[in-house]
Amino acid sequence: MPATIIDGKEISKHIRAELEQEVAKLTAEGIKPGLAVILVGNNQASRTYVTSKQKSCRAIGMHSELIELPEDVEEQVLLNEIETLNNRDDIHGILVQLPLPVHISETKVIETISPNKDVDGFHPVNIGKMMTGQDTFLPCTPFGVLQMLKYMELKVAGKHAVIVGRSNIVGKPAGQLLLNENATVTYCHSKTPDLASYTREADILVAAVGRAKMITAEYVKEGAVVIDVGMNRDEHGKLCGDVDYNDVFDKAGYITPVPGGVGPMTITMLLFNTVKSAQKLLANRK
Ligand code: GUN
Repeated sequence: MPATIIDGKEISKHIRAELEQEVAKLTAEGIKPGLAVILVGNNQASRTYVTSKQKSCRAIGMHSELIELPEDVEEQVLLNEIETLNNRDDIHGILVQLPLPVHISETKVIETISPNKDVDGFHPVNIGKMMTGQDTFLPCTPFGVLQMLKYMELKVAGKHAVIVGRSNIVGKPAGQLLLNENATVTYCHSKTPDLASYTREADILVAAVGRAKMITAEYVKEGAVVIDVGMNRDEHGKLCGDVDYNDVFDKAGYITPVPGGVGPMTITMLLFNTVKSAQKLLANRK
């Protein structure tokens, strides 16, 4: 049986339409949700992502601004920029696009962003809140994955979720969010021997490794939900995920395509978090 496609673009459209209404309401109250994005250096992929994030903000009526800094910028200059944004009333979300040049400490940068404006959900305070199940900004990619499962009405509680990849941005928080939803979670990574013996046990398989098409049908249980977080180029330079889509398609129960799967959802949840930040400000003002 061919898999049912989880259409991230379509799901995004619905969520963004709701967000657009929230943005209009907030704007009428004098709080136009605003996102500031800092881009350091000339990483072409980062530039593409940032442009897409800005376009998406504007499309739903939000304010968005880009601060560009050169590759060799001093760390302190970047930290000062963040402090300025922390103190601005018209900015509700701050995002520093990663990766950063090696001479800059990502940890320091993330910890300088006010937890109240950390719409990426990367600040240790927000990660701690996520781990303990408190209300906070959730990291956008895993949050988007969860929203896709919810939209498709796929049960998570009691299911075995296997995460391949343990990055701070995707793998680790994806497992934590699924655990919060009462899944049984297994983490796999580059040092896991016989990876397929784990992934074949997955009811929900999340691939977040960054290796083009490495998850083939032999890694997948019949009928599994396969979530592909990868964003790679194949041998022809074409965009592809970590999952060999054509190979897995007839075996999986559900599958996310690349492009058009998790990618649009990541940006949607960034918009969601920024709107949420503006809503909190309004609630505190009232
Ligand atoms: N680089 C790759 N993904 C992300 C993300 O979600 N947020 C930021 N800030 N940088 C990234």
